[in-house]
Amino acid sequence: MAEAAHILPDMEKEDLRILMAIEIGMKRSEYVTVNNIRFYSRYPMEETLFRLKKVHKWNLTIRDSSKSEVAYTLNSIGYDVLGLHTLVEREIIDQLGPLIGKGKESDVYGCMDDKKNIFALKIYRIGRTSFKNIKKLRSFQGERKHISWLYVNRLAAKKEFDALSKIYELKLDTPKPIGFNRHIIVMSYLRGKELAFYQNLKNPSKIFNKIIKQLKVIYQKANMIHGDLGEFNIIVDNKGNILIIDWLQWIPSDHPNARSILERDIENVCNFFQKKYHIESNPVEIIQSFKKK
Ligand SMILES: Nc1ncnc2c1ncn2[C@@H]1O[C@H](COP(=O)(O)OP(=O)(O)O)[C@@H](O)[C@H]1O
Ligand SMILES: [Mg+2]
Repeated sequence: MAEAAHILPDMEKEDLRILMAIEIGMKRSEYVTVNNIRFYSRYPMEETLFRLKKVHKWNLTIRDSSKSEVAYTLNSIGYDVLGLHTLVEREIIDQLGPLIGKGKESDVYGCMDDKKNIFALKIYRIGRTSFKNIKKLRSFQGERKHISWLYVNRLAAKKEFDALSKIYELKLDTPKPIGFNRHIIVMSYLRGKELAFYQNLKNPSKIFNKIIKQLKVIYQKANMIHGDLGEFNIIVDNKGNILIIDWLQWIPSDHPNARSILERDIENVCNFFQKKYHIESNPVEIIQSFKKK
């Protein structure tokens, strides 16, 4: 990502258009032949070859010359460049900041708009370490034969952004969605750290109650269940403000597995506060109180 942000200012619009031409071709196959890249970019062959050489030198593409026709595919930096470029062009962000979090399937950076507002920028990296996580997203695949990492990550970003937008209407402590493009989402930032990383909280029962209360409102009013809740997906700052993050795996409350997934979420939170802060609670009762509308 830092590489992408570094290269972006030096890129000409023709370079970006070549990357976009490869991106379009990647909907149909992983590698896109030079001829198809020329077709999608609508540049003459000479210009196409010149730009391809340039973006390849910047290390934004992977080249396959083992077949009769040379073909290219975007690597993750190339895709980052496209996403970042669009966010900058739409004036959603102006500058990329430092890496602030590394999740299982994403990198999260600080970023700033041109009014110096600070946001969190989450960039999806599903399939980076293994394809195991892609399985979770099989439902996205539908009828498609060829499913690229590009597509999976783009859909993940959209899914989380849509979830944030839905919950944000309830005015709770979840990230405000600011914008998204491709595999990147921009949202409000809370300066703090994960619940898991506190040695001691000032008022743990207040925080515990706040979390449970919010989950209840989200369940009752938005019909949503987090699906991956635990001490790593709740940010707390030093004033006791919280932010419930990481909504990729949310499910609707009428989902066939809703009951067990809700139980798991609530038990994770209850167990954590019980073990670390000796706060006693009854997950079964809590879940029952969710259902009474
Ligand atoms: N809105 C945010 N404000 C502050 N920190 C955040 C925010 N979103 C994510 N982070 C940080 O980035 C880490 C990874 O983000 P998360 O959404 O949990 O991704 P993953 O799905 O990969 O676990 C978090 O644990 C947290 O440290
Ligand atoms: Mg997480």
